[in-house]
Amino acid sequence: CKTLGIGLAGFGTVGSGVWNILARNGELITDRTHGSVNLEIRKVIVRDLNKFREADAPDEIFDTDLALLIEDPSIDIVVELIGGTQAAFHLVAAALKAGKPVVTGNKALLAERGKELFALSAEHKTPIHFEAAVAGAIPVIKAVQESFIGNRIESLTGIINGTSNYILQRMTEAGLGYPEALGEAKELGYAEADETLDVNGWDAAHKAILLASLSYGTLINYEDVYVRGIEMVTPLDIRFAKELGYVVKLLSLVRQHEDGSIEIRTQPSFISAKHILASVNGVFNAIAVKGDAAGESLFYGRGAGQEPTGSSVVADLVEAARLMEHGGTHRGFLPAEESPKLMPIEDTATPYYVRF
Ligand code: NDP
Ligand code: HSE
Repeated sequence: CKTLGIGLAGFGTVGSGVWNILARNGELITDRTHGSVNLEIRKVIVRDLNKFREADAPDEIFDTDLALLIEDPSIDIVVELIGGTQAAFHLVAAALKAGKPVVTGNKALLAERGKELFALSAEHKTPIHFEAAVAGAIPVIKAVQESFIGNRIESLTGIINGTSNYILQRMTEAGLGYPEALGEAKELGYAEADETLDVNGWDAAHKAILLASLSYGTLINYEDVYVRGIEMVTPLDIRFAKELGYVVKLLSLVRQHEDGSIEIRTQPSFISAKHILASVNGVFNAIAVKGDAAGESLFYGRGAGQEPTGSSVVADLVEAARLMEHGGTHRGFLPAEESPKLMPIEDTATPYYVRF
């Protein structure tokens, strides 16, 4: 069977994780797919060719020009792992227009410019895969797009930013201050290149927007959602919470009300210490998906980091390869309709914390 050429944009935390997983388990994937999926990374695009790289990829496949991934006929699938919404948008749009399937972990890009990209994907009948964009290794995109396709989704509730969760845990258990805990999360590769999005709640909000889009088949204006981050959480808040029988978590909530309006919010929350989400610690994420037929299912796993995220990218690559072989644009559904009725963002009287 034909070997598919992968063009990897970005060789940071996640990009190098993808390289390592394919180097280690590429043959296993080929065996498991009865020889039908052979993946080879043929080009890697980075900013700085002189940077030291731990992953053992040959120098000659590295370059700095993203356009090469579009122009090079030996590249069949483009993997976008550079982050940000500018260069990444141009790369993904160009790949879709060229008929090259895209795999990305970029939730900011999809939450802010998904409308244009999903339209291009439909127009050019070229899929865009993004399991890695929400909750690292946890297959929650697949769950919503495929496993729950026979359900009306009533709500999704969860902890979907590993950096915030790690920081809160270190502040709670090790008594670390906020800057030290953030420094550790960066060191471990959990935080975004610009960690502002992690701590101001927007990374989780982007993920909640994506989950809401898929759950309700609609595109959501990202400026309309309610977002508060953990920057203002203090060790004293955490101590008070503990004394009252709660833990502080950054919680994201998506739910549809009886009038059809959709509520999307991310904010620090007091969660009862007895609640199952209270025990989700460190880089772990958990999302409870409630469907009218399935009831509630809880998805739990590593929400960030090199190989947990790389694992989802590799799964998407295999899916992209299978679709290229068998045809079709995507196994699940993608948001298509214009904006739903969103619950209005509350005024400033809304409390910083909510109780859950
Ligand atoms: P990093 O900052 O570790 O790596 C980014 C990589 O992209 C680097 O190799 C960098 O090059 C390269 N790059 C950035 N801009 C350009 C550009 N304009 N042209 C060419 N190369 C460029 O990021 P992560 O790996 O952590 O994240 C990548 C994406 O995955 C982001 O969208 C992030 O949100 C998402 N993600 C990250 C997770 C994580 O746990 N880290 C989890 C889930 C999703 P150079 O090495 O030369 O600097
Ligand atoms: N910075 C993100 C987090 C990476 O901490 O959850 C995973 O999307």
